[in-house]
Amino acid sequence: MTSSAIVASGLRKAYGDKVVLDGIDLDVRAGTVFSLLGPNGAGKTTMVNVLTTLLDSDGGTVRVAGYDIASETRKVRAAIGVTGQFASVDELLSGEENLQLMADLLHLKDKRVVKDLLRRFDLEATAGKLASTYSGGMRRKLDLAMTLVGRPRIVFLDEPTTGLDPRSRRTMWNIVRELVADGMTIFLTTQYLEEADQLADRVAVLDQGRLVAEGTPDELKRQIPGGHVRFRFAGTVQLDAATRVLTGSTPDSESLVLRVPSDGGVKSVRGLLDRLDEYAIDAEEFTVHMPDLDDVFLALTGHSSTEASK
Ligand SMILES: Nc1ncnc2c1ncn2[C@@H]1O[C@H](COP(=O)(O)OP(=O)(O)OP(=O)(O)O)[C@@H](O)[C@H]1O
Ligand SMILES: [Mg+2]
Repeated sequence: MTSSAIVASGLRKAYGDKVVLDGIDLDVRAGTVFSLLGPNGAGKTTMVNVLTTLLDSDGGTVRVAGYDIASETRKVRAAIGVTGQFASVDELLSGEENLQLMADLLHLKDKRVVKDLLRRFDLEATAGKLASTYSGGMRRKLDLAMTLVGRPRIVFLDEPTTGLDPRSRRTMWNIVRELVADGMTIFLTTQYLEEADQLADRVAVLDQGRLVAEGTPDELKRQIPGGHVRFRFAGTVQLDAATRVLTGSTPDSESLVLRVPSDGGVKSVRGLLDRLDEYAIDAEEFTVHMPDLDDVFLALTGHSSTEASK
């Protein structure tokens, strides 16, 4: 396999007149987490379905694990695992039976695979209980465990943490990090900007059929205005003095905090500190604030990530 796990070029998909994917190019390096970010209806699931051969595209080429999705469909399927947006566990089976069913479907003889996954996902205690009695978070974990039975090299996770509480979400994040540490490639869709920020090596923002931005979370954040440094001073004398010497700054006399626009880079922050030093102004502390991905979405698309794209 080359060092690219997924390469798409000019990928197109429409439902009738509605163009959902309008010429998508992407390159996901092997062994990394790639996160596709977009609001409801942006086309994330459609993209996952096309990349995983569940849905035919209308145009463009895609290679997954080095194989063409159209002409080498079986090889693609053998290399990947998919955890869909909606859990596919069988409610009438226990957790262990769900996993065993998957192992049987894949003709796996080794009994340890199921036991190992139950342990890894902390599902041993509830392995014998019906999946219908599982909480949403346990069901998600079981679903992902089922995806891993076949030891895929590339795993697609469609909104793996939607609807989970913060603790379950963190558990899921840790699992994803472990999978990547094991050398897997993860293609993850999410509506949570923080999730992409936490997990992804690269993020792409999908809006109205196109990728409107692609890069590391930090690169995306740097593309837009809104970063600033906050200095806190011991008294109003220092605050007023700093306000005079740092151009464009906004003081808050109540909290004794001065807000100065900055890209957050080392050079510009050092410049600010040097200038305070030059005028012998002491700051108590400073913090650098980078815009979060929500700001990025607003800046890139002209609408917030929570507004459905029409
Ligand atoms: N089978 C289908 N037939 C017609 N239109 C569809 C079909 N599946 C999806 N769509 C439309 O395609 C667009 C993209 O849907 P998709 O499910 O890919 O979005 P999504 O980004 O996964 O959204 P969500 O965050 O809600 O899961 C939506 O406008 C949806 O209504
Ligand atoms: Mg979806």
